[in-house]
Amino acid sequence: METGIRLDFLGELRRTHTCGELRKAHAGQRALLMGWVHRRRDLGAVIFIHLRDRDGVTQVVFHAGMDPAVHERAEMLRSEYVIAVEGTVTERSADTINPNIETGQVEVVAEKLWILNESRTPPFPMEETVDVSEDARLKYRFVDLRRPHMQRNILLRSRVSFATREFLYSQGFHEIETPFMTRSTPEGARDFLVPSRLQPGSFYALPQSPQLFKQLLMISGFEKYFQIVRCFRDEDLRADRQPEFTQIDLEMSFPQQERIFEVIEPLLQRVCREAGYDIQIPFPRLTYAEAMRSYGIDKPDRRVPPMRQVNDLLPELTQHDLPLMALHLPRVGALSRKERDDLKAFGMERGLRVFDDAKRLERDYPEAMARVRERAGAQEDDLLLLATWAGAPTGHRPEETVYQACGQLRLHAAQKYNDRHQLLDPRRFEFLWVVDFPMFEWDEEENRWVAAHHPFTSVHDEDLDKLTTDPARCRAKSYDVVLNGVELGSGSIRIHRRDVQSKVFSALGFSPEEARMRFGFLLDALEYGAPPHGGIALGLDRLVMILAGETSIRDVIPFPKTAKGTDLMCDAPSPVPERNLRDLGIALRKTT
Ligand code: AMO
Repeated sequence: METGIRLDFLGELRRTHTCGELRKAHAGQRALLMGWVHRRRDLGAVIFIHLRDRDGVTQVVFHAGMDPAVHERAEMLRSEYVIAVEGTVTERSADTINPNIETGQVEVVAEKLWILNESRTPPFPMEETVDVSEDARLKYRFVDLRRPHMQRNILLRSRVSFATREFLYSQGFHEIETPFMTRSTPEGARDFLVPSRLQPGSFYALPQSPQLFKQLLMISGFEKYFQIVRCFRDEDLRADRQPEFTQIDLEMSFPQQERIFEVIEPLLQRVCREAGYDIQIPFPRLTYAEAMRSYGIDKPDRRVPPMRQVNDLLPELTQHDLPLMALHLPRVGALSRKERDDLKAFGMERGLRVFDDAKRLERDYPEAMARVRERAGAQEDDLLLLATWAGAPTGHRPEETVYQACGQLRLHAAQKYNDRHQLLDPRRFEFLWVVDFPMFEWDEEENRWVAAHHPFTSVHDEDLDKLTTDPARCRAKSYDVVLNGVELGSGSIRIHRRDVQSKVFSALGFSPEEARMRFGFLLDALEYGAPPHGGIALGLDRLVMILAGETSIRDVIPFPKTAKGTDLMCDAPSPVPERNLRDLGIALRKTT
């Protein structure tokens, strides 16, 4: 950049105040501020600068009448120049007070100016009101992160981490690190692999979570472990998923599920306070079965009313004994023909038959519909839909398939008509625990049972002998903490007995040799006095996303990846020189 501006040195300059600090009480004091030129208004004889640092914005005024040399330098200032100014804090007259900035009652009348660095014209303005494409934001992330809402988000994240550490230490937990270069950990996603130079052909895997290590730490006697830890998963990305993300991960020895809840509830209460929210504890609880029945999903958004099963009231509409569900949304009013058709089509794509015409049902079945309304808690002005399965039963738990499809319809309608019912308020927090998940899920592709949580999760004591005979009905000692339809965290009481762990591996279809090969070290460790233990991991990114009122975790991660897993700023991933591959004993194959 060749602007020819003479730049000043920082030398011994020292700030006296931040740009967010000055108030009426400072009037008359001298102040030396440093920061970025946020906005500039040049009226000729007077130049106004909004000077910004991470603390806020202060107006600085340069009068031509004071020191012409300083005024001349001030004329050179442009957006994002880095400057220091010294002057007198002055109270503004009533008609010039700016209520939009916290320092708006004062301004600094500049006497000295140092231009510490210039800046190219930023790729987009710092104003929040300007809509900027996400690609541009990610490419120039160092500029994007200067924008006030990103500063707020990242600093909130820092405070949440600090509060978490402070709280967990106060409860007797210790932060212990676990390796990043390890072997595959089974959390259900693909691993990111790191080739070994010293052992060509062998690979480390980046951990999908510290699961096995934290269990080993319990076996080693540390009793209460936590870590704010990066995890790596090669999976398809969404608004709430990144390939590297952060967990608040913890594990305890000798806990029941209740002991884990007793740590997490006040932890979340403490952390919410950082963002200015007071939340009630303890959280309500639903079993997985209840969550599916009432919300059709294992991460219910409780801001929207639950669904109700009404087969008994309208047996005429029931088929194959599958659920007939009533869905209701308050204050939506009458829908147009087109709106009703849209809901019907959405349901049909998911296998549902949707009865969208409540008026007609009320004509045909007046008494039954009055009772449906009563059960659903639906008023005259509310949207009321009935839905059931259109065809023959499918899936290993056919009623669940119906609940799930109805649950999707419920959320679709809730999002679509939020402007009418306004239930999806991001400042309303509805936490809950979902407990008693099934132990296994049927994997259609692999044609076998897979662990619903992970293979180290305990089965309910009374379901232990059903492990091999009736896996579909086995319940796990696992739990999720859910907030506004987002799975915030997930955990379980673990298996601490070698014989039970072997049984679960065998129910999952692992041969003893395969189990030995993949998890031999865990099986060994379980033979050396493993205490009963359990834990949980919360997604830090998701937690901060919700606290910050954002809808994507990319907005609370300083340097995130795009949906395609790339870092647009430093252009990663990228090819490497042939020589590096040779060192690793790797040859690339053409992929089609
Ligand atoms: P789980 O796989 O459910 O459990 O992960 C725990 C929490 O981590 C967050 N999370 C993610 N956040 C952003 N991007 C992702 N790709 C992503 N994947 C998961 C979610 C989730 O609830 N070892 C177990 C925990 C335990 O049993 O203690 C585990 O990792 O908020």
